[in-house]
Amino acid sequence: MADWSDFIQQIKSQNDIVDVIGSYLELRRSGANFMARCPFHGEKTPSFNVNRNMQIYKCFGCGESGDVIKFVEKYESCSFTEACEILAKRAGIPMPQTSSNRDDAQFRERKKKRDLYLAICRETARFYYRAYYSDVGKVAREYIAKRGFDEATVKKFGIGYSPDGTSLADHLKGKGYNAEDCVACGVLQKTTRGNLDALNRRLVIPIFNMQGQVIAFGGRGLDEYTISRGKYKNTSETPLFTKKDNLFAINIAKEQKQQTALPHLVVVEGYMDVIAMYQAGFKGAVASMGTSLTEQQAKWLSRLADTVYICYDGDAAGQKATVRGMDILDRAGLEVRVMTVPEKLDPDEYIKKYGGEAFEKLIEQAMPLPDYKLQLLERAFPINSSDASQRNNALPKYVKGALTMLKSLDDVRQARYITQVSLKTGYSEDFLRRKLSENEEELPQIFGEELSQEEKAKYFVAACVLRGEDYASLEEKPICNSAFLSALYDYLLDCLSNGDKPSVDMMYTVCPDASPEQYGKILDVNLSAERREVNERYFAECKRLITVEKLKRKREELMQKIKENPDDAELLAQLGELSRKITNAN
Ligand code: UTP
Ligand code: MN
Repeated sequence: MADWSDFIQQIKSQNDIVDVIGSYLELRRSGANFMARCPFHGEKTPSFNVNRNMQIYKCFGCGESGDVIKFVEKYESCSFTEACEILAKRAGIPMPQTSSNRDDAQFRERKKKRDLYLAICRETARFYYRAYYSDVGKVAREYIAKRGFDEATVKKFGIGYSPDGTSLADHLKGKGYNAEDCVACGVLQKTTRGNLDALNRRLVIPIFNMQGQVIAFGGRGLDEYTISRGKYKNTSETPLFTKKDNLFAINIAKEQKQQTALPHLVVVEGYMDVIAMYQAGFKGAVASMGTSLTEQQAKWLSRLADTVYICYDGDAAGQKATVRGMDILDRAGLEVRVMTVPEKLDPDEYIKKYGGEAFEKLIEQAMPLPDYKLQLLERAFPINSSDASQRNNALPKYVKGALTMLKSLDDVRQARYITQVSLKTGYSEDFLRRKLSENEEELPQIFGEELSQEEKAKYFVAACVLRGEDYASLEEKPICNSAFLSALYDYLLDCLSNGDKPSVDMMYTVCPDASPEQYGKILDVNLSAERREVNERYFAECKRLITVEKLKRKREELMQKIKENPDDAELLAQLGELSRKITNAN
C-alpha cells in the first residue's frame, strides 16, 4: 500500500492546478498567472489568481488561498478525503486504503449495490420526466401551470409525473433491473398486487444529494383520492436516503454557491416553497421536508454558508423540536436568524401574493435566535400585559425562561442579552448574573463531591434516559470506567435502537452486581416536573461534556498514531477535523 504522503504528492503532480480550476472556472491568462472571478465571494472584476509554477491559488479580494486539493475541498463543499478522491479519479490514480474504503469483499459489494441503486433512481427520474411531457402528463402540467411555475423552473428541478401504478415497474424491468433492487431503493413498493410504483399518479419531485445524484423522490397528490392517502408521499428510508440526513435542493444551493458565492441559506419546510423561491430569484433555499433539523443537516449547511435563515410556518416555528433544531445549527457555528411570515402564509403563498421584493424584506427583518427565543417567551408569558395580575404572574416564569436562554450563549452575546432582559423585566443585571451562576451550581451536588464533572454527567444522562425523560436522546456510549455504567449504557442503547422503552426495573437485571450507592446515583436524580427545564438544559450540558471527553480521548489516540507515522497526511487531516470538532463542542 502506497502511503498517504506519496499519494498526496502523486495526485498533486498529476492534477495541474490550472487545468483543474480551469475545468470549473473560466480562466484568463494574465502574464505568468491566470485570473478568474472568485468563486468564494461574489465579485464583478476578477481578483482570483492561479499560479502554475507554485501550483497555488489566491484571491486578493477575500484572501482565500491554497493548493489544488484545498480548492476542490472548498469548491465542492466536501471533506479533504473526498477532495483527494475526486482528484485521484480525475488522474486515474487508485485511492490508498483507509478505514472507510477497505478493499474487502463486503465493502466492494456495498459500493456495487449503492451504484446500482443510484442508477435505478436516475432511470426512474428520467421515466417520470418523460411521462410529465407525454399525453398522460397533461394533468401534471396543468397543475404546475395553475401554481404559476414556469418551464425553466420545472426543468431545473427535474419535475416529473408518475402515470400509473405499473408502467414504471415494466420500464425498469425492460432496462434489466430486478424488482428486488427497485424495492430496496424505494422506487417500487411491494404489495399483494405485485411491485407497484410508490408514487402512483403523483407529481414527482426528485431529491438529489450534495453530489447531484438522485437519491429519492417526493410525490404530491393531484386529485382528492390520492391526497386523501397523504398530500405528499416520500421515498421511505433506503440505503441511499434518510429524510433526517438530507435537505431538499441542497444540490442547487451548492451549485449556486459555486457560481456566485451564497450570501446565506434559507431553510423552509416544503418542496413547493423552495421551488417558488427559486423562481422568484432566491436560489439558496433548501427544505427540511417536514422533520426537525439534525446535526448531519447542520454539517451540510455549514459547508455552504455562514448564515442560515429559518422560514417555517407560524405553527411549526415555535415548537420545541424546531427550536431545538435551531440550537443544533447554532452549535454548528452557523449564525441563525428566524423569519416570520405574516398571515400564516408559507413562502410560496407569500411570494405569490406579495412578490419577491416583499419576501426579501422578510429576510431583512429576520431575528437573531436569542431575540426570537425571547419573543416566544414573551408570547407565552405576557410580561407587558395591560392586566397587572397577569403581568405579575408572568414575570417570574419569563425570567426563568430567559435565564435558560442566556445560559446557552457565549460570553459576548450573554453580556448583550443580559442587558436586554434586564431592561425588559426590570431586574438588575447583577441579579440576573447572580441567578445565572446559581443555576450552574444547582445540579451536580446531587452526586456528592467525589465524582468528576464527566462522571456526574454520565450518571445524569443515564438516569434521564432510563427514566424516560422525553428530551433524553442518546446516540453513543460514553467512556465508561465502571462495569455498572458500561452495562447500563449497553442496555439503554440497545433499547433505543430497538425502539423499546427502557425500564428502571431492568437496571437491577442488567447490572446485578452494582452497589446500592451506584443504583442510588441513578434513582436519586430529581426529575420532578418543576425541575424539568433546568434538567433539560443540564442534560444538554452533560452530553456535551461526554462528547468532549470522547473526542479528546480520540485525539490522544490519534496523536499517538501520528507519532508513529509522522508523514501520514490522512491522520493529520483527521487530527485537524477532530480539533475543529473539539473547538466547536467547547
Ligand atoms: P407543506 O404542506 O407545508 O408542503 O408540508 P408544501 O410544500 O407547502 O405543499 P403544497 O404547497 O401544499 O403543495 C411541508 C413538507 O412536509 C412534507 C413535505 O416534504 C412537504 O413539502 N410533507 C407534508 C410530507 O412529507 N407529507 C405530507 O403529507 C405533507
Ligand atoms: Mn405550500
